[in-house]
Amino acid sequence: MNQSPSSDVWKSVNSNSSNGVIKKSDQFLFRPEKEPIYTPGMSAQPLPLPLQTARLTLRLPRPEDAEDLLAYYSRADVARYLLEEPWTPDYAREQLGKRVARTGLDSETRALALVWEQAGRVIGDLGLWLTDQRGEVAEVGWVMHPDYSGRGMATEAVRPVLDAAFEVYGVHRITAQMDARNVASARLCERLGMQREAHLRQDCWSKGEWTDTLIYGMLAADRAKT
Ligand SMILES: CC(C)(COP(=O)(O)OP(=O)(O)OC[C@H]1O[C@@H](n2cnc3c(N)ncnc32)[C@H](O)[C@@H]1OP(=O)(O)O)[C@@H](O)C(=O)NCCC(=O)NCCS
Repeated sequence: MNQSPSSDVWKSVNSNSSNGVIKKSDQFLFRPEKEPIYTPGMSAQPLPLPLQTARLTLRLPRPEDAEDLLAYYSRADVARYLLEEPWTPDYAREQLGKRVARTGLDSETRALALVWEQAGRVIGDLGLWLTDQRGEVAEVGWVMHPDYSGRGMATEAVRPVLDAAFEVYGVHRITAQMDARNVASARLCERLGMQREAHLRQDCWSKGEWTDTLIYGMLAADRAKT
């Protein structure tokens, strides 16, 4: 089974199950290695990294970030609405190994992984990945250390990445999907200006139960209106 390169943590609408094992259908459409990337609206300029916000630096992940990510991904409260169980040190290294290849929607992986740092410590991370063949529909997901929550930092980190998705990568639409009980994540979508488009009832078997999924979306045209 092909695994989605970036939706391995975040809930995917196409998730399904069998015998309690989560399987994700192949939402990614892998390009043959030599085929040029076809993304009609993509800028000729690469995404300028790192991205700097008032409080945060967003950069590509490095293998040595495993320890900082483990500090929050190993927590039960963080994993509660993720598809994965709390991380172990080995799993953290494995994940970082995958994420370092996700250098942009224009890369072979068709995905961008970023971590955000405050005072030299990685306190959160996000993934942005293409879900269609044209390269104009993307999905986004995020996780942050609970010690830093409630201060608008996730909002501050994700906002410039949505900007980059539309302005640098020329995407037409971005979605975010989450367990319907994940109120903090839904509120983050709303702060970012995404619209709640669907509430799917018990569409995903996760951690021993059928769970509902919320889908939020934002179009390039929505941004033009604001
Ligand atoms: C989803 C998640 C990143 C949201 O974190 P968060 O702390 O709620 O989000 P922010 O950092 O943007 O902070 C927003 C909160 O800070 C407050 N805040 C304070 N200053 C703020 C500012 N300058 N700007 C925006 N919000 C601010 C907001 O009012 C909001 O609080 P509220 O929800 O009580 O209204 C976090 O809950 C998380 O990592 N969860 C575990 C992993 C997970 O489930 N990921 C999603 C999978 S789909």
